[in-house]
Amino acid sequence: GSIDSFAARLLGWYDRSARALPWRIPPGSDAVPDPYRVWMAEIMLQQTTVAAVAGYFERFVARWPTVADLAAADDADVMAAWAGLGYYARARNLLACARAVARDHGGHFPDSEAGLRALPGVGDYTAAAVAAIAFGRPAVVIDANIERVIARHRLIEIPLPAAKRAIRAELAPLVPRGRPGDFAQALMDLGATICTPRAPACGLCPLMADCAARGRADIERLPVKPAK
Ligand code: ADE
Repeated sequence: GSIDSFAARLLGWYDRSARALPWRIPPGSDAVPDPYRVWMAEIMLQQTTVAAVAGYFERFVARWPTVADLAAADDADVMAAWAGLGYYARARNLLACARAVARDHGGHFPDSEAGLRALPGVGDYTAAAVAAIAFGRPAVVIDANIERVIARHRLIEIPLPAAKRAIRAELAPLVPRGRPGDFAQALMDLGATICTPRAPACGLCPLMADCAARGRADIERLPVKPAK
């Protein structure tokens, strides 16, 4: 139609506006993502903010630059390095996963969602994120930021968690085969910087032209929270 595709507008915006984050390869770079770094970041970013994770991520990959290095680490050293990030089961799973990759996969992360999902501590979200970002698989990545962007753009008024099915159904056909990792991270950035929970900056949004919630007085209500 007369409006560029959802993915084209989103990726164009990301090319101009991507946040520079320590686990990211900037859009347009020809560097190849390191699955170990992508996995480490996605584990740390569960339940924890980008600002809190950045320093921990840099210290971990400086001290244990490869999955083999982490697999060989002492448990106590890893737990001590994790101190302050919280949700300590993630640190135990981090080590268990590194050891499984080293022992069972020759030090290479599986490159499919199903293979990743079989690793310790890797759930549906992390498997999709690593498959898309590290391996270029057209996985459907959904976190809280992405949920909000899609619930608004498609005016999904079903309350969470039931809304998740509808969000997935709307998002799946939008994922571009060419840049699925950038597409997912672009939605995360859009949710974090423009399509924010409060006072979204719709005037700056590359998806405004066909956003079903744009300009609505009740846009902050979306996505609809679970009934108490
Ligand atoms: N939150 C979770 N994963 C992220 C990523 N890859 N970039 C930015 N925020 C994130």
